[in-house]
Parts: sequence; structure tokens; C-alpha cells
Amino acid sequence: MDEKLFSIIDSLEDTHRLPLQDYEYLVSHRSDEGAMLLARKASAIRDSIYGRDVFVRGLIEFSNICKNDCLYCGIRKSNSTVDRYRLTEPQILACCKQGYDLGFRTFVLQGGEDGWFTDERLVSIISKIRAAYPDCAITLSLGERDRDSYQRLFDAGANRYLLRHETADKAHYERLHPAAMSFDHRMQCLQDLRDIGYDVGIGMMVGSPYQTPHELAEDLKFIEEFQPEMCGIGPFIPAHDTPFADFPAGTLEETCYLLSIIRLIVPDVLLPATTALGTISPLGRERGIQCGANVIMPNLSPVMVRKKYMLYDNKICTGEESAQCRTCLDLRMDKIGYTIVSDRGDIRREKSGSHGGTHV
Ligand code: 5AD
Ligand code: FES
Repeated sequence: MDEKLFSIIDSLEDTHRLPLQDYEYLVSHRSDEGAMLLARKASAIRDSIYGRDVFVRGLIEFSNICKNDCLYCGIRKSNSTVDRYRLTEPQILACCKQGYDLGFRTFVLQGGEDGWFTDERLVSIISKIRAAYPDCAITLSLGERDRDSYQRLFDAGANRYLLRHETADKAHYERLHPAAMSFDHRMQCLQDLRDIGYDVGIGMMVGSPYQTPHELAEDLKFIEEFQPEMCGIGPFIPAHDTPFADFPAGTLEETCYLLSIIRLIVPDVLLPATTALGTISPLGRERGIQCGANVIMPNLSPVMVRKKYMLYDNKICTGEESAQCRTCLDLRMDKIGYTIVSDRGDIRREKSGSHGGTHV
């Protein structure tokens, strides 16, 4: 029994913050006992805010063309073995229609950094979705753009933006990305998104190459300071034909442990049990929910393109049988005592939030 670990966990539960060295202690002294305690506390605090409802987001992977070359990513520019595609505006709108009929009230438009999708083209798509589905949230996951672009997309009707910080350690960031990408620019983008008024999602991979407990502690400190509305974390999973193809994957246990910690740091955060977690373990998403997550992001992309959006190997939900992830997930959640709801799934945060009241 590690008394220090338990006292750190109690302190985190009470104050929702820790000194950097305590985060590092927590990460490097993970035990089954500690993980169970954290999961129980995280689940309880999630229940007190969101109950046992699970929010779903319909993920539309509209382009796998990307100008970036992140070393971990299966659809990086240098991977010439990828069969590239881009959905048309009518195809994207058809995904939304199908999603709406299935009960989705949030659409996530995710794609590589594909220059074809100019502000004009994106504004056209976003405003059509906004007009057709005024009761839905529109989330974007399009990577780094300039502030003016983020503003135009927001004005067209987008509400939320997912841009994982990937790692809060600059030197580590530089080992995961090519020289053309900059940690400072990523941070600037996150601040711009926040200032414009988006609900912002950050996040990192667990077990990414060269990551140590110290880097994870820095990620947790950054999450504590940024107070994101959403936080996407999943295990790193190697992708073939990338420089990191031979690195080991992150684990279910460590990812779930971090999900619980993040729930205690930002009690109202919208926290997905990610597809990557479901990929490394058959019941990974269920375990994520049991450890404090409250969001699932099933795929709404046309089945014919799903195998082409392979950020990592063996990604689930890419075959014919997964056309209806919604039904599959209803059953899976029901089995563990949770209910998927047809709801925008907004954050339940006081207006005077802890990041200075910029969130409305
Ligand atoms: N394993 C796990 N997650 C990955 N991502 C990209 N490549 C991988 C990989 N090999 C994640 C990144 C990115 C998000 C869209 O997918 O964190 O931000
Ligand atoms: Fe996609 Fe089960 S969630 S097939």
C-alpha cells in the first residue's frame, strides 16, 4: 500500500490540481489498487455532473489528404502507400442526414490538413449543416489554420474545435513532428480557438515514442491550466510505413488510469473513450467509460472510405459490418449500465468558468 499515492489522489480529488512532481509521482507509481481507487472517484464525479448518460458524436472523416508529416500518423504526407480520398460537399451532407436520422446531434468534421478545403469551401459546408440542423453542434478537427480562418468557420456556425496538443513538452513535440511544424504555433492555435469562443478539445497519445512519466505529468499540468472543454486521449498505436512503425503501442491500463486522472482535474470535461482505446482492446471503450469517460465518437463516414482513414494499424469499425456503429454502441453501453443519449452533449460548466469566463 503506497500511502503517498493515496494522499496525492485524495488531494487531487479535493482541489483538482497538483504540483508537477505529484503528477509525475502519480503517473510513475501506478498500481492496480491506485487505478481502482481513481476509477471509482472519477466515475463518481462524472456521475454527479452527467449521470450515466453517454454522449455520442458522429465522426465524418472527410479527407485523408494531408500536407503534414507527423511521424506517428498513418496518413502523413510521406506515406505513399495510402489511397487518398476527399468527400464532396453532397457526400458530407448525406453523412449528416444519415447521422441525424440515427440520433446524432453533434457532427465532427475531421480531416487531414488538405489545402483543397479553403475557407470558402468549408464555410459553404458548415453553413449548410448549420441551416439544415439548427439543433446540432458542429465540431471541427482540421488541424492548424490561421486565426482569421478559425473566425470565419466559427461565424459560419461551427461551435467546437478539436486540436490535440499531442505533448506539452516542446522537445518531445519536436521528436514527434518534422521541423516544419512548431510547438509554439500549435499553442497559438489553441489560444486563438479559445479567444474566438470555440469549445476547445486538446489531448495527447498515451505511450507515444520517447514519452516518459515526466512528459505525461507536463500534459496533465497543461490540462489543469488550460481547462479544456474536451480532452481526447488514446493509446499510441504504431502505423505501418511510418517512422514509428516499430515502436510499441500504449496500453489500456495506462490510458484508463490517465482518463480517471483527467476527470478529477477537470470534473466537467467532455472525455471520449476513443476508437484507439477500442482498437487495442476489445472492451477498451467500455473500460474507458467505466474509468470516467462520457463520450463516444462512432464513425459516420461512408463505409467505402473508412479503411483509407488509417491513422494507425488495425483500426476498428472500418468493415462493412460496422455501418451501424450506433446500434452496436447502444448495446455495448447498455451492457455496462450506461445509456447513449440523443443530445448535443454540451459541457455543463458554470459561465464564470475557471479560464476567466470566456466560455459562453
Ligand atoms: N496512434 C494513435 N493516435 C494517433 N493519432 C495520429 N496517429 C496516431 C497513432 N499512430 C491521433 C493524433 C491526432 C488524432 C487525430 O489522432 O493524436 O491528433
Ligand atoms: Fe463500430 Fe461497434 S462501434 S462496429
